[in-house]
Amino acid sequence: MGETVDILILAGRIVTSKGASHSPLKGDNFCSVTETENGAVAIKNGRIIAVGEEEDILKEYPPEQSRQVIEAGGKTLTPGFIDPHTHVVFGGSREDEFALRISGVPYLEILKKGGGILETVRATREASFPDLLEKSRIHLNRMLAGGTTTAEVKSGYGLDLDTELKMLKVIQQLDREHPMDLDPTFLGAHAIPPEYKDRTDDFIDFMAEKVLPRVAEENLAKNCDIFCEEGIFNIEQSRKLLTKAQDLGFEIRFHADEMVSLGGAQLAAELGARSADHLLKISEEGMEAMARREVVATLLPATPFTLMKEEYAPARKMISAGVAIALASDFNPGSCPTHSLPLVMTLACLKMKLTPEEALNGVTINAAHSLGRAGEIGSIEEGKMADLVIWDAPNHRFLPYHYGTNLADTVIKRGRVVVEKGKIKEGKK
Ligand code: NIG
Ligand code: FE
Repeated sequence: MGETVDILILAGRIVTSKGASHSPLKGDNFCSVTETENGAVAIKNGRIIAVGEEEDILKEYPPEQSRQVIEAGGKTLTPGFIDPHTHVVFGGSREDEFALRISGVPYLEILKKGGGILETVRATREASFPDLLEKSRIHLNRMLAGGTTTAEVKSGYGLDLDTELKMLKVIQQLDREHPMDLDPTFLGAHAIPPEYKDRTDDFIDFMAEKVLPRVAEENLAKNCDIFCEEGIFNIEQSRKLLTKAQDLGFEIRFHADEMVSLGGAQLAAELGARSADHLLKISEEGMEAMARREVVATLLPATPFTLMKEEYAPARKMISAGVAIALASDFNPGSCPTHSLPLVMTLACLKMKLTPEEALNGVTINAAHSLGRAGEIGSIEEGKMADLVIWDAPNHRFLPYHYGTNLADTVIKRGRVVVEKGKIKEGKK
């Protein structure tokens, strides 16, 4: 007599990294995945209890003793995708700015004139808690339907105490209610609000002394982020806020070296950040420093794509330098309005020359490392959380190759089928 299980998935092609839960995949290892052609997975109490060749799994876990059997013949199973950089919570939308940028006005110039991020700040300050909650839920549903089972989500469209707390409470409530797991990040220093115009140091002091301690007190965020960029927050201001955040127990991950090579990568290494993100302008020194301290580089190729840039993060150089790479969407209303990690994989392959295997590791195991969650998610291994996607694809290479269509067929989160035939089935935790 075999053991009773909750779900048995049969006959699928299983593609996952293996044994990479201790440190992120780097160098040649980043390119390797394990493929099992006729694979099966047994799930019980939200966890993967067995994975391997179907023949072997069936001996121990006969289908008649499973509450549910999913036939995945001709399909591909991967770990649930993890999006380690998003701005899901915001009011309004910015399709007018999209048109403006096409006509040639640069992103940072729009921001300087009070548009861009600041336009979203106005809309988010005005939005009620229930409105923000429902709008963000719709975004999460679309992400989940596209195969994303865990996401980091930032505040940062409030830039004042009340709105920053409101955003973080939306994230907290969604983490409790929505099937996806959310990793909350405080990004109070995302831009300089009009009331602090030409007083950036005062704004950083306000964030460090008044807002961060409240966020810590109310336990509303795990991470702290800052937009470290020329004309926004410089290295000194970033060091000040991030050091204070570390003192208060936050992990740090931040927007670094995106438009100008300011040395954000070196700062990330100096402070022992979990991740530094964007990095289009990372220097060789920055790469060495990040490799040495094992700071994950979370790259966001859909952002330069949206901003019509020729230049992308130098991913191949970073991989050669020993930097661990993760991929994320950067989903936000301005510089990157996509929910889709498969599209991010496509852009990572076509624009940064990642292999499909590297792109898959970038949105699974290394993305888990970017969030410090690799002991629980990011690969299909015994004991890990049963977060899985069954793709309507013959193999994993098909995912970045056949872009622009949602190929996620079934999504399983913590051992429950939450998406079936591409449609949300369970909208609650
Ligand atoms: O990562 N760079 C700053 N933050 C976001 C953009 C947010 C926005 O445009 O609303 C980013 O690209
Ligand atoms: Fe961002």
